This record gives sequence, structure tokens and C-alpha cells, in this order.
Amino acid sequence: MDQLIKIINQTEFSKQDIVTMLCAEGEDKKLLFAKAKEIKEKEIGKKVHYRGLIEFSNICSKDCLYCGIRKGNYEVERFNLSDAEIIAAAKFAHENKYGSFVMQSGEISSPAFTDRIENLLKKIKKITNGELGITISLGEQSQETYQKWFDAGAHRYLLRIESSNKELYYKIHPKDEMHNFEKRLNCLYALQKIGYQTGTGVMIGLPFQTMEDLANDILFMKTFDVDMVGMGPYIEHPNTPLNDYTAELMPLIKRFDLALKMIATLRIVMPDINIAAATALQAIDPIGREKAVKVGANIIMPNITPGKYRNNYKLYNNKPCVDEEPEECVSCLDVRIRLADASIGYDEWGDSKHFSKRREV
Ligand code: 5AD
Ligand code: FES
Repeated sequence: MDQLIKIINQTEFSKQDIVTMLCAEGEDKKLLFAKAKEIKEKEIGKKVHYRGLIEFSNICSKDCLYCGIRKGNYEVERFNLSDAEIIAAAKFAHENKYGSFVMQSGEISSPAFTDRIENLLKKIKKITNGELGITISLGEQSQETYQKWFDAGAHRYLLRIESSNKELYYKIHPKDEMHNFEKRLNCLYALQKIGYQTGTGVMIGLPFQTMEDLANDILFMKTFDVDMVGMGPYIEHPNTPLNDYTAELMPLIKRFDLALKMIATLRIVMPDINIAAATALQAIDPIGREKAVKVGANIIMPNITPGKYRNNYKLYNNKPCVDEEPEECVSCLDVRIRLADASIGYDEWGDSKHFSKRREV
């Protein structure tokens, strides 16, 4: 206990310190969670900010070994929302004072896709009077494409590194040019250089993953100087190659617990960044996201994809809210957040404080 108290009150952390935090149990775990909550409230306050998430297409050119919408999964019915549907979702986010909007899809790189996104960004900026913050999460693209989208109005980008351990990265992705670790890293550097608030993240509880890997993931985020993080438990999907390794996994509930400890530890290591309560947490525990808010997370991404498409954007088993419509999530979430001793920053962008400070330097 004394050892943990000493560690959580430091401002610099070694890999071993982080491993100790991730292994905390019992009273130590309570202390870790309480410290993370205290730091969050001191640095950021009690507010949670929303990012209305639209998963607008499940068409993907990649084949990540864990992902339910990978190209090689022929069981999925592919969909692609129309521009009008995407714009309607942006309006919904704006009208419901969500403050920010996230556009996510499977990974496609083509001039037509680049142009489509560029036009959509410009239109959404215009119809929401520039008031709606826009995050995009559209995978690996060229620097020119990232720049075009930035100039069109996107100001945040999410690209999870999935694992900062190169060897592990290649165990969970096909070994080909389409899934190159260095390319992914270079994309993250390009995004940061362009001026995006840059977000990354990892999956927690992957087969072959060690505590040391997770500690290195946190150190990677710190060294990269990330502004936002979204990370959640790995959850197997039956139609994926990684599903063959289910016997190697820790039980779901342990993965969930470890994800909470990752969030709390990251909050202690990087006090002023934005940390999202990943939806995958809710796939394991119905109040998983609220639990994450209590231990350091400050961002929630309510799904605002029209209900009829949700069933076909299942990256993992047991994805929550697939039968709901966006309207149903509005009041449900408000109550949930209040129960987690937090309030919602309606109509605010909720930018990462870390980003503003980084810009000033
Ligand atoms: N379990 C948990 N998270 C997953 N993702 C993809 N597949 C899974 C899975 N089986 C996450 C990846 C990706 C994000 C959009 O969803 O981290 O970057
Ligand atoms: Fe689509 Fe990995 S399967 S990006």
C-alpha cells in the first residue's frame, strides 16, 4: 500500500511504476481509482463532453484479425449511408447540443472517398454555423488527404495504434503492406504536425499481450504527447481469425477491470488529456462507461447512427444499443452521467486542455 501511495503521488513514472499501478488490487486499486478521480476533477472538472458518433459505412479495405467488419468477413451486410443521412445525424448532434460530432467508417482510400469527406465536412460546418466540433476517424490516409480534411473543418483525428508493441501489432494484423506498423506511426505524426488534436488508443486484454506491453502503451502515449485517448477491452468476434485464441484470453470481467485500471493510470500519468469511456466497456458491463467516468474518463461518444444500420457495425460481440434509435439515447445518457457524479458540457466542444497548452508552447 505504501508503495502505491508513493507512486501515485509522483509526476514522472517509470515502466515499473505503471506496471505496479496496473496490477493494483483491493485497497491499492481503490486508492488508484480515487487518485485518478481527484486528478480529473482538479484538472478538468466534473464535466463530461459528448461526441455524437456516426458509423457511416462498414465497407473496409483492411483485414485486421480482430475486427468484425474486416474485409474477409463475408457474413456482414455492407452499408454506406447517404450524404443526406450523415448530414441529418450532424444536425441531430447539433440540435441536441452534443457539441461535437465524430465520423467513423471502415478504411477506404480513394480520390472519390477523399472528395466525399471533404464536401461533407464543409457542408456540416456550414449548416451548423461552425458550432459543431468535428472529429474524424477514417484510418490511414496520405498527408495530403489529412491536410485537405483539416482545411475543410475537421480538427480532431482518432487513429488507434492498437498496440505500441510492433511484434504484437503484427500478431493481430495480417503481415502485408496494408497493415504496416511504421505507416501507422507516421500517420499519427502527420496528423499531429498538421495541427489536429490527435487521439490514439489500444485494445486491452489482447491475446499475447503482457502488463509490460500495456505499460509501454501508456509510455508511448506520453512520449507521443497525445491529446486524446480512446481505449477499451478487446472483445472477441466469432467471424475473425483472432477468435481462435479465445482460450488464451483473461476472462471478460478481468479485461474490463484492467481497462478501468488503464484509464485511471493514464489519467494519473497524463492529467490534462481527454480520455474517452469506450463503448466496448458497455458491451461487458451495462454501466461500464459510467464506471470509467468515475475513474478518470471525461468523454462519451453516444452512438447516433440510425438504428437500422447499427447491427452491421459490430466490431465485436455484444455491442450495446444496437436496437436503439439516437433519440432514445439522449435522455438515457443524461441520467446515467448524473449517476456517475458528473454533468454534461452541453453545446461545448470540450477540447483537450493538453492540446491548448501544447499549442501555447
Ligand atoms: N474488440 C474491441 N475493440 C475492437 N476494435 C476493433 N475490433 C475490436 C474488438 N474485437 C476497436 C479498434 C479500432 C476501433 C474502431 O475499434 O481499436 O481502432
Ligand atoms: Fe477495417 Fe481494420 S478491419 S481497419
